[in-house]
Order: sequence, then C-alpha cells, then structure tokens
Amino acid sequence: MMNRRDLLKGSALALAATAAAASPVKEPASPKRQTSLTWAPVFPGIWKATIGVPEKYTPISGRTIPPAEGALRRLPAPQEASIKLLGAKVGPLGCLITLPLAPNENIFGFGLQLLSFAQRGKKKTIRVNADPKVDTGDSHAPVPFYVSTIGYGIFVDSCRRVSFNCDNARLRPTKPISTTSNEVATPDSVRTLPLEASGVVTVDVPRAMGVDVYLFAGPTMMDVVRRYNLFSGGGVEPPEWGLGFWYRAYTRDNASEIVELARELRERKIPCDVLGLEPGWQSHAYSCSFAWHASRFSDPKGFLAELQSLGYQVNLWEHAFTHPSSPLFEDLLPHSADYGVWGGLVPDFVDDAGRKVFGDYHGKNLIDAGISGFKLDECDNSDFTGGGGWSFQDFTQFPSGLDGEQMHHVFGLRYQDAILDQFKKRNKSTFGLVRSSGALASPYPFVLYSDLYDHRDFVRALVNSGFSGLLWCPEVRDANSELDLVRRLQTVVFSPLAMVNAWYIKNPPWKQIDQERNNEDQLSENWQALEARCRNIIEWRMRLVPYLRSAFARYALDGTPPFRALVLDYPNDLRLHGIDSEYMMGDRMLVAPLFAGEDAREVVLPEGVWHDFWTGQVFNGGRSYQIPGFQEDIPVFVKAGSILPFGGVALTTTSNATRDLTVAVYGDGSLTWKLDGDAGLELRRSSSNGVDVRAVGSKPHGYRIVAVQHMEG
Ligand code: GAL
Repeated sequence: MMNRRDLLKGSALALAATAAAASPVKEPASPKRQTSLTWAPVFPGIWKATIGVPEKYTPISGRTIPPAEGALRRLPAPQEASIKLLGAKVGPLGCLITLPLAPNENIFGFGLQLLSFAQRGKKKTIRVNADPKVDTGDSHAPVPFYVSTIGYGIFVDSCRRVSFNCDNARLRPTKPISTTSNEVATPDSVRTLPLEASGVVTVDVPRAMGVDVYLFAGPTMMDVVRRYNLFSGGGVEPPEWGLGFWYRAYTRDNASEIVELARELRERKIPCDVLGLEPGWQSHAYSCSFAWHASRFSDPKGFLAELQSLGYQVNLWEHAFTHPSSPLFEDLLPHSADYGVWGGLVPDFVDDAGRKVFGDYHGKNLIDAGISGFKLDECDNSDFTGGGGWSFQDFTQFPSGLDGEQMHHVFGLRYQDAILDQFKKRNKSTFGLVRSSGALASPYPFVLYSDLYDHRDFVRALVNSGFSGLLWCPEVRDANSELDLVRRLQTVVFSPLAMVNAWYIKNPPWKQIDQERNNEDQLSENWQALEARCRNIIEWRMRLVPYLRSAFARYALDGTPPFRALVLDYPNDLRLHGIDSEYMMGDRMLVAPLFAGEDAREVVLPEGVWHDFWTGQVFNGGRSYQIPGFQEDIPVFVKAGSILPFGGVALTTTSNATRDLTVAVYGDGSLTWKLDGDAGLELRRSSSNGVDVRAVGSKPHGYRIVAVQHMEG
C-alpha cells in the first residue's frame, strides 16, 4: 500500500498485472479506494485496476443510472483479461498509465470525434469544447473510452482532461548513429520517416493522485461496445414519435406565426411529429428565464393546445444558465457556482438538491403543461467559441465540491438527469437534444448536435458516435445549393434524429435555402419542385420508422448500437479501418451518403452479397464501387436475404396508416426481421414465397402487411 509521500515522489509502479479470473461478482455499492495493481473483476468481462488514490467524483462514482445487470450477465464473457496493464506512475502532475498496442492493432472511440476516425498514431485529449476545429480530441461529447480491433476496450474513470497518446509518445534514442544524408531536414521530411512505433498507449491523467482504469472484454469489438453500453445502463429506446420528423421554427416567430408554420407543414403534407421552439419563446433567453415571453406568447396554454390538436409534440430550447428574472432564480441561488454565465447562475447539477430544484420547476411549469422534451443547449464549454464569458471557467467552484474542469465533463450528463428525472417521475417518455454528453451516456434519451456544419464531419461524427454510447443528429439548416440541401436531408433521414433546425431561417429551407431571403416575395424560384423533392425524402423517414424501432429495441436489449462504423461489424477487414463516411444503420442497411459538389464517391462494401436498397440490384461485397455524384438517391445497400418492413406514410407516427407495412424482400428472404419488446413482431419468409407475421410480445403490435415486394434487381 502506498502512502501519499510515495505518490508525490513519483514512484513508478511496474504493473506486470496478472489477469485475475473474472468471477461474476456484484460491484460493491461503495468500492474501497485502495491501490490495486492487478485487474479485479467487476462484472463478467469487466475488470478494474486502481492506480493510487482516485478522485472522489468520477463518471462512475457520480453515475445516476445503474448498469443493466441482467443483460450484462447474458453477454458471453471471457474468463481471463486479454491485456496487461504495462505500467503506472503517480506524481505531482497526475497519473501516467501505459497500456499495450500490438503491431496490427487499431483503436477507435473517444466519444463524438468530428475530425478523425482511426486513432492509432494520434494524441486525443478529453476536453469538452463546443467548437472542435482541430483534431486534438476536443468534442461536444468526449469520452475517455477506446475500443481495439483485437477485441477489448479501455475506460479511464476521470473527469480530468485525460490525454491518450496512442502510439505517438516516442521513447528517447539511446544509441549514437552517424548520418550521411545530404537532405536538409524539415518537419515534413521527419514526419515521413519511419519512426519506431512505441507499441503502447500512454494515458496522462492530469492533477489526479489516482484513477480507476476499466477493461472491457470482447471477444469481438462489437461485444466490447455492447458491454460498455450495458455497463452504462443499456441503450435507450426512444418513444416512436421521436423517430418521426422534427422541425425547429424560426427563433423570432411569435405564437401565431408558429401556429401558421405548423398548419403550413400539415397543408403542404410534410410529415412532422415534433415542432421545436428556439430562444424566442422565453422572456429572457441568454441567460434563461424558463418563462414564456409575455407578448410573443401571451397564451401558452392555448398555444400548446393548438399545436397538440394539430398532432405535434412540442420541444423547447433552453440552456442551464439561469437569469435573475427567472422564477427559479432564488431557489437555485444556493445550489449554483461561484461564477456566472451570461449574467445568470450556473446550476450545480451534481448536487442532488440543485438538480431537483431545477428539474421540479421544469416538471411543474413545462412538462405538466404538455411539453414533450427539451433541447439542452450551450452546456458544452462554448467559451472556446465565444472567446470568453460563454461558459464557466475551470477555476469555478461548485457547492458539491467539483471544480470547473471536472464539472465540464459531466455538466451535460447531469443536466440530462435533471430533466429526465422529471419525465420518469411522471411515467412519461421523452426524446430530446443536448449539446454535450460524455461517459456512460447510452441510456439517455438525448441526441447530440452542433453549430458546426461540415457535411463530411457530420457523417464522421455519426460513424464515431456508435463506439461510445452516443447518438448524433447531423441536422439540416441552410444550404449552399439545392443539391446540398437534398444531400444533407438524405443523411439526416438515415440518422438517429431526422431534423431541420431552421432557427435562423424564416421559411422552411426548401422555400429559401439560404439565410437572407426572409420575405415571401424573395422565395426561391422553384421552391415547389424543391419542396416536393424534400417531401419525398422526409416520407422515407416515415417508412423507416418500424426498421429504426427494431434497431433501437436491440440497443435496449443487448447494447448493440443502432448506428455504427463498418469496422464494428467487420473488424478483420483491414480496408474498413479507414472508412469514416459509411455506416451501418441497424443490422441490415449500409448507408454511404453523397456530398454536394463531389463528382463521385467510392463505396467500399464488406464481404458478402449486397443489394441496392432502391432497385434491388446485386453488388458483390469485398470490393469498392464508384457512385456518381448526380445519383438522385442516397446510396444505401442491404444485406442479401434481408426482409425489411416499411411503414405507411402519414403526417405523424400516431396515424394508423403507419401500421400498414410494405415488406421488401432482398434476395431469398432468409434473414428474418424482428422487433423485440412487449409489442414485438417477427417477419419471416413463408413457404408460398410471401412473408409471415408473428407476434413475439404479450401486447398487440398493430401492424399488418399490405404488400410484399421482391427486390431481385
Ligand atoms: C445555438 C444552437 C442553435 C440554436 C441557437 C439559438 O447555440 O446550437 O441550434 O438553438 O443557439 O440561439
């Protein structure tokens, strides 16, 4: 056992950690904080090593949702830990941990990374930042978790800015050599030299006198991710309306203008389940009053009743910083930080009482009034964007004892808790948006989004989100061209949350693709044609709802991420280690978005036989194809043998028409489709070349087959 003086001296602990056999033990309610240099079993297939004296508050010690224990125990679990901890050192600057990296091994993860995919050779620092413009690890939702292609995952349980040096920390040279080169060395030429790989991941945990490191076993990469998600509390299953189409209205619109928009969407036959209100609904928005604006929204009850009668769920924008004019202000004051943001209080969401005061207000005043969800904005350290004053500083102190640096890593998560608790208390489901999240997030019904807007980065974020239990919305706002709008809309329809966020655009983007034309007489010339094109894409979202429901039901059941990188399904295909612009949606569909302005794109298909989703044409996998940029539809490929259900198109998911299934059979139909759950069903090939429906839950599922299409190509 080390004492504190040893730690400060920086004693190196050579951790030839022997893998302790994993017996299925329950994690103790209050784990003992002691130094352990070996992996100790936590759950089957999950081990922990304690280095030094970990900090009191960490993502795991502060978690509010327990592991999904039953499902976790059902996963196959190796008895032995497959990797050793190579070393650990605790000193005045924090902890340094060394983990192995084999020659052909690659690693992925670290949360919602927008700028890179495979992480070997890179340094990633887990720092929350709303504006990640450089590939340093900064993210709306960075997570200190990585997954290896050889089938294990590492989680570092810290709210510090942990740096992962993934095979890029070089040891010093120890032997003199002579050089004969005539070349003048430049940084670029050095970069191309074959540097000797270190063969390790070096993890630097600043400021902490100790940390717990968790090892998640495979055997496959997918098992690692499942185990992490189930340990987090299991995958979320959104309410069905959350999988429909979302539209966020212009922030300057008043109640009657929003009702007008709501009617227009219905009249123009644009499906829409959720209507979002932006800052303008509040009497004060930066910081927030959480109260309706007296003149723009003079009759909130009547307004909400009107929207509900049109069939909309209503989602409200807000951030946590609480303005002195807010009815919540005085109650929140004792539960807030010593510094403010935008002239408002920063709630201490780690403090149970702070979370409750903030949440109770929302429950009584907004959820009980019929609000179905929230968009939790600005919780992601936008100080880096705004140049100061847009978030709390690292030296901020919270009543719960956390400092600002620690709080940034859990602010989005505990904010989600404050809101989610209120829905749970009322036995209501919700689905919302959040701009920051982090570790152990898979059970939260919130989807990440960003103010950034590069279409390729948005797709990469979607691909990366699946490694770390996160959901991402590549939202559509304005566009450079009609094609840009179409391409972005196609991507968002094949994503966890299909949304147009027109917060700064007066009219729907198909009427004015850019920000400027805000008057009726300045609308795009051919807007009706563009609207028809967009409607057609949005209708596909409605058709996809049953399929998406099954992908999310699986997420809840065994932690399989509904949206994920190809490498998770095909870890041994080395070509896929670099594919960050294609992803799996559920188990059967591979999506490869087109980007406006590009003549063509390459689509790499994994092994096996695939069908074009739209035409049924057969493509042999294990090779790549060039898809021309003028192709109208988003390229989607379906695994041969799949049976896919498409719902009927209606203006909302509550319509009975959505229960009328058109079933597409790709190839021989040998791959059964299943929606798990109480109201579940299964679709199977029948002997008469048709498809049979079978209920698999205790409640009626309400679906019926109205047509079967054989997609032979
Ligand atoms: C931003 C947010 C946008 C929009 C805007 C309203 O922070 O990312 O989506 O809500 O605020 O002011």
